[in-house]
Amino acid sequence: MGVLSEELKQRIAGEFPKYPEKRAVLLTALHFIQAEHEGWIPPGASKEVAELLEIHQIDVEEVISFYSLFHDEPVGKFHIQVCANLSCCLAGARPLIRTFEEKLDIRSGEVTDDGVFSIAEVECLGSCGTAPMLQVNNEPFLENLKPDDVPGILDKLRSRLAEGKR
Ligand code: FES
Repeated sequence: MGVLSEELKQRIAGEFPKYPEKRAVLLTALHFIQAEHEGWIPPGASKEVAELLEIHQIDVEEVISFYSLFHDEPVGKFHIQVCANLSCCLAGARPLIRTFEEKLDIRSGEVTDDGVFSIAEVECLGSCGTAPMLQVNNEPFLENLKPDDVPGILDKLRSRLAEGKR
């Protein structure tokens, strides 16, 4: 049995008429796959999506590894992506990342044992004027942050989880 459900394959195929070539559906297909697999792209999915789009598997894997919004390993329910590029680092991204690591007892690139949080250092998210900043999953940016903001950010996320909102 494949990684992609028949329903998901049909959903991807349903995008084909919107584009001049099947390969143009790749980003959309990867978003669909992540949404159906707990926020990451499982092993085997790149081969199956390549077959669907009639492209090489390496083309799919290159796209997955290029964009920080795609994940080829499990991430937390709340994936905390802290910009670690120049403006953010100059404005204090490193102490911010360290504080998340201390509070969650994981290192950047890891997931908490309960699967709730993961931390990633990402490239510039285009909000340099409000550095340092981060993004949780695909949500609106949190900006102008200080290490002291970290406990409050984590508390809010935990409350959302307790309320059943992700
Ligand atoms: S350097 Fe962090 S948003 Fe640009």
